Amino acid sequence: MNEHILVLDFGGQYKELIAGAVRKLSVHSEIKQRHITADEIRQLAPIGIILTGGPNSVYMPDSPQCDPDIFKLGIPILGICYGTQMMCHTLGGEVTPGDKGEYGRITVTPSQPSALLPQQPFNALMSHKDTVARLPDGFITTASTASCIAACENAERKLYGVQFHPETKHTDGGQEIIRRFLYGICGAAGDYKLDDYIDTQIQRIRQEVGKENILLALSGGVDSSVCASLLSKALPGQIVCIFVDHGLMRLNEGDEIEHIFAKRKLRFVRVNVKERFLAKLKGVTNPEVKRKLIGEEFIRVFEEEAAKLGRIPYLAQGTIYPDVVESGGTHGAVIKSHHNVGGLPDNLAFAKVIEPLSGLFKDEVRLLGRKLGLPAFLVSRQPFPGPGLAVRIMGEVTEKKLEVLRGADAILREELDGMRRRPNQYFAVLTDTLSVGVKGDDRTYDPVIAIRSVTTEDFMTCEYSPLPHSILSRLSLRITGEIPSVSRVVYDITSKPPATVEWE
Ligand code: XMP
Repeated sequence: MNEHILVLDFGGQYKELIAGAVRKLSVHSEIKQRHITADEIRQLAPIGIILTGGPNSVYMPDSPQCDPDIFKLGIPILGICYGTQMMCHTLGGEVTPGDKGEYGRITVTPSQPSALLPQQPFNALMSHKDTVARLPDGFITTASTASCIAACENAERKLYGVQFHPETKHTDGGQEIIRRFLYGICGAAGDYKLDDYIDTQIQRIRQEVGKENILLALSGGVDSSVCASLLSKALPGQIVCIFVDHGLMRLNEGDEIEHIFAKRKLRFVRVNVKERFLAKLKGVTNPEVKRKLIGEEFIRVFEEEAAKLGRIPYLAQGTIYPDVVESGGTHGAVIKSHHNVGGLPDNLAFAKVIEPLSGLFKDEVRLLGRKLGLPAFLVSRQPFPGPGLAVRIMGEVTEKKLEVLRGADAILREELDGMRRRPNQYFAVLTDTLSVGVKGDDRTYDPVIAIRSVTTEDFMTCEYSPLPHSILSRLSLRITGEIPSVSRVVYDITSKPPATVEWE
């Protein structure tokens, strides 16, 4: 049994990010519901506990609490955002509603030496309204911002709290803060490896599926390719990979995917259903409706293909953790229904859906892919959403709009693919804004293309990547010149939050 950290869930968006950050530092982590009792925790014997953030206020009548005896176990505890407020409130401190709240990267200034924090000011992601106004007895403030206690601790009782989010990339040195908690405060030895994940999943899949056949929804992206590889190891000869070409792929992509997978030792079936998807999307403009329709249609195609192939009771998907969080699958808010989670219909003809990657982030999936021996070009492909170009076309999806976007997107990829340090994801978006232009001596009134280019590791948050002006100018010149029905090109400079990566 590996040493491990328990992450207690108070409903925040970032709990898997915390669990992932801990695993990345070679310590196993598990997420548990906040109702777990101090006795149950004692039995599990974690080396430390992290209390997540959450959307609530400790003053709300049904605000999530934990067993107060947890704070008496002597196990090191780190509270994050709401976790800190809840800990301070439970231990006799005072939390008050802030006037304006603090959102975004804010400077945190350490005020006392702490085993958890650096000694120099640093920028950290804040996202809170309430603040700790008075600390419980025995606690000291170790860092502040202009308007709140940013970190506090009772080192003797090994209780630590931060108001900011060290688990996100937006906090400078956030990983180092978590490392200090694990190694400096919890005394971790670091005995966890990703190979353990592969072994555990293989055993689990074998137990669940037995000798039955399984259908894998293969899109050719990193997640489903890694899932295919893991399943082939666990269940050799029992998998059929179905690639649904819904006509919403990028230029030539369907043929490229067929070319890659038809060569591998897999049963690979390509189903061409472009007309069917376009008919479903006719007249649909609402992003969530689009996503749900596409998710449902995917499943109907899988069911039909499974029926043709004989008895296939299981469906496997390469769902990863951000898909689950943003679809509201962890009791958080629905940000958008990722086609493979929130888009799944209730009445499924499959006995069970298997998702062996659903606890992992993209960077962990890539690492797993490398460990499983997948070729580098597959593992490093940038993500492409299941609903494809449908969520990059604002408003109704039509054949004509798809053609315009495919052309613009191909130019963008051609220009950016060659960059020495490429952004993690880049694509073109067809907006539903028309603007006036002049080409030759004629007035035009055509759509606007937006350029999206982001830097991220986990895709839960991202920063827009500042592309050099020379590239931006070339993109604008080429897209407006080579695609007749585009009037202008704009550049999206928004990070996530507050935006998301995809526009819909
Ligand atoms: P968002 O737009 O949610 O995107 O910030 C985060 C990452 O997820 C990808 N994405 C999807 N992937 N099915 C997928 O497989 C989906 O429905 C979906 N929606 C977004 C997006 O491209 C980005 O990498």
